[in-house]
Amino acid sequence: MIVAEGLEKSYTSGGRPLPVLRRIDLEVPPEAFVSIVGPSGSGKTTLLGLLAGLDEPTSGRVKLDGQDLFALTEDGRAEFRSRNVGFVFQTFHLLPTLTALENVLVPLELRGEYAGARERGEALLGRVGLGERMDHYPAQLSGGEQQRVALARAFANRPKILFADEPTGNLDRETGGAIVAMLEELNRDAHTTLVLVTHDPALAERAHRVISLSGGRIATDRPGTAVATGAGVAS
Ligand SMILES: Nc1ncnc2c1ncn2[C@@H]1O[C@H](COP(=O)(O)OP(=O)(O)OP(=O)(O)O)[C@@H](O)[C@H]1O
Ligand SMILES: [Mg+2]
Repeated sequence: MIVAEGLEKSYTSGGRPLPVLRRIDLEVPPEAFVSIVGPSGSGKTTLLGLLAGLDEPTSGRVKLDGQDLFALTEDGRAEFRSRNVGFVFQTFHLLPTLTALENVLVPLELRGEYAGARERGEALLGRVGLGERMDHYPAQLSGGEQQRVALARAFANRPKILFADEPTGNLDRETGGAIVAMLEELNRDAHTTLVLVTHDPALAERAHRVISLSGGRIATDRPGTAVATGAGVAS
């Protein structure tokens, strides 16, 4: 369960506060698949970063499975994330000195999970169509390939909650479709809560629930077209 209460984020610009998110209140039940849409600059990436505890709010709270993220120290938060949260960044964040496979194995190594890790990493890279590229470094991969490595990495530790920021933004239709199918499968079969930012209206509609942001506020919050299973439907 994700709970955000009175979440606000401001930056200072030219000595003045620039509000980016204004009092966001949000509850996402376990196993939900939620899309977040909205124009460029509306605060989607900022919101995702706060919900995942990657960034600190100006005010307000985020609780993941009852844990108040900002009551933890930064180290405590990192540890909590490594056990519970996967994140696919809009800009991939692959480590340039590691191969595709090594990048995928990072979350498992952080948790001290070595048994079967290599096989799992290889299988995940196979699933995203990179079986032949496992030993390539990020600089030797195309943008879409790097994005797929980032997805495989996010799946590696079987997160309870997966945040994905435009995971199909750089992909052709077919590859993007395969990625979406993987995300949906993770949500349905591994019961992973999925919060996805996308500019693709067709993808957004595949969620249980579609939230649109505008000017740092929630403008609309309505059901998507995914078959309602009871979980994840806006009440
Ligand atoms: N570190 C920062 N300092 C100052 N302003 C920032 C910072 N990060 C983001 N912003 C501002 O916050 C606003 C929201 O940014 P955010 O990245 O959340 O938008 P977004 O909805 O994800 O947009 P896009 O669809 O283009 O990715 C933008 O106007 C941006 O300029
Ligand atoms: Mg963004």
